Amino acid sequence: MFDRNRVYLFDTTLRDGEQSPGVSLNVEEKLEIAQQLELLGVDIIEAGFPVASPGDFKAVQAIAQKVRGPVIAALTRSIPADIDRTWEAIKGAETPRIHVFLASSDIHLKYKLKMSREQMLQQAAAMVKYAKRYCEQVEFSAEDASRTEVGFLAQVTTAVIDAGATVVNLPDTVGYGLPEEFGQFIAEVMRRVPNMDKAIISTHCHNDLGMAVANSLAAVGGGARQLECAVNGIGERAGNASLEEIAMALYTRQGYYGLNTNIRYHEIARSSRLVSTLTGMPVQPNKAIVGANAFLHESGIHQDGVLKERSTYEIMNAELIGLSQKNLVLGKHSGRHAFNERLLELGFKLNDEDLSKAFASFKELADRKKEVNDGDIEALIKDQVWAVPERYSLQYLHTSSGTSVISTATVVLTIDGMQFQNASTGAGPVEAACHAVDRITDIYGKLVQYKLNAVGSGKDALGEVLSQVSIGGRIYNGRGLSTNIIEASVRSYLNAINKYYYEKQRAKE
Ligand code: KIV
Ligand code: ZN
Repeated sequence: MFDRNRVYLFDTTLRDGEQSPGVSLNVEEKLEIAQQLELLGVDIIEAGFPVASPGDFKAVQAIAQKVRGPVIAALTRSIPADIDRTWEAIKGAETPRIHVFLASSDIHLKYKLKMSREQMLQQAAAMVKYAKRYCEQVEFSAEDASRTEVGFLAQVTTAVIDAGATVVNLPDTVGYGLPEEFGQFIAEVMRRVPNMDKAIISTHCHNDLGMAVANSLAAVGGGARQLECAVNGIGERAGNASLEEIAMALYTRQGYYGLNTNIRYHEIARSSRLVSTLTGMPVQPNKAIVGANAFLHESGIHQDGVLKERSTYEIMNAELIGLSQKNLVLGKHSGRHAFNERLLELGFKLNDEDLSKAFASFKELADRKKEVNDGDIEALIKDQVWAVPERYSLQYLHTSSGTSVISTATVVLTIDGMQFQNASTGAGPVEAACHAVDRITDIYGKLVQYKLNAVGSGKDALGEVLSQVSIGGRIYNGRGLSTNIIEASVRSYLNAINKYYYEKQRAKE
C-alpha cells in the first residue's frame, strides 16, 4: 500500500496550523488553502477536527467533497461518538482517512486522562478497530509519544497495527526531542514492533526548541516514512515542522536521503503567501526557504561570488520554489498587460473583473508612489483577497494628536448608502478613531493585536496594518492598506468589523 522508498507529506496547516494562537479561518478560506495544497502535491491533507465546532465540521465536509487527489484526513478523539461524527464529515472524500489520537506518556495518562497504561492500550486498539468499520485508512497518533517509555510505545504500536491502523504517528507533541536521540527512538520502536511491515511510521514534531524540522528528518533516518508538517511552520505554540523546509531539505540533500516526495516545488512560494495572507500570520524575513531574505545577498563578497557563479553562495534556486528572480519596477505608465504579466509571474491568476479592480488600484497607487514594486503589488492583491462585502466603508477621517493635546478623531462612514459621522477621543489617534467607528456601527470591538508593516521601499512606502479584533468573544483578522498609517489602521479595524457583520449575516441566511 505504501512505497517505502519515498516520504509521504501529511499537511496539517488546516488543523494544527489553525490552532496557532489568533488564527481562525472560515470555510471558504480553508477550501482555498486545501485547493492550493492539492496543487502543491501534498499526499495527505488534514482538513480539520470536525468535532471541535460546526464550522470545522462544515469545512472538513466541503474539502472532502471538493478536493481530489490527496487523501483527506480528519482528527478525532478516541471516542465512538466522535469517530462517527468524523466519518460523517469525511465520507465524501475520494480517499478518506480517520485520524484517531490518544495520549500514551505517563504524564498524560496520570494527570490528563487518569488512565492506566493497560486501559490506554485497550482503548487505542478498540478505537482503531471501531474507525476501521468506516474506512481502509486509519491513522493512530500516540500523543506525547516522544515522552513515552519506548517498550510501552512499541506495545501500543503493535496493538493498533493489529487492530488495523495503516499509519502510526509518534508525535513530539511538546517539542522536547533532540534530533539524534529522536531518530534513534523511532528506530528502536520500529525494531520492537513485530508487525511493522503492515503499516508505516509517521512523526509530527513541534518546534518548541526550534528542532521540529531537524527531528522530522532524523525520524526519516530512523525509518519514518510519513512526516506531518504545516506551511510556514504554523501550529500550536511555536508551531509545527515547516513543510517547505522538509521538502527542500529532502530535495537539496537527495544524495544523502535518497528519498523523494510528491511536492511540486514551484508551488511552494505561492502556498506560503496564501497561508500567510489568509491566516494573517506574516512570515519572518529570515525564515528558511520562504522568508523575504532567503535568497537575497547583502555582502559585497557574496554578491560578487553569486554573479560569478551562483553556486558559490546559493544551494537552492529561487525560481524552483516559484519565486521570480526579477523584481521589476512598474510605474504609472505601465499598462494593463505588463501589470498582468507581473501578476502571473508572482503567482496571481485573476479573472477579468478582479484584474480590472487590481489594475485600477495599481494606477491609483502609481499616482501617489513613483515606483511600484513586487511588494506593493502583492499588498494590493492581498487587499482584494481580504475583501469582504463592505457594509461599513470609510468616507472621511480627520485626526489630531501630539505630545500635549488629547487625541481626537472625526470619522464619517457610509452604511447602506447613507453617511454617518461621529467624533471621539482616545489615548492616541488610532484609539480615538476606533472609538468613533464603534459608536457609528454600534459594534464594540477590542483591538487585541496590531502590527504595522512597511510594504515596498522608500518614504512613500505603503503602510499595511494587520489587526486582530475581538468581537462577541471571537477574533476577526483585519487588514488595511494606505500610505497614511492612521488611515491604514482604521481600514484594518473596519475590515474586521465587516467580516464580523458578514459572518453574522451568513449565519442568519
Ligand atoms: O501534537 C500532537 O501530538 C498532535 C496530535 C493530535 C497528532 O497534534
Ligand atoms: Zn500537534
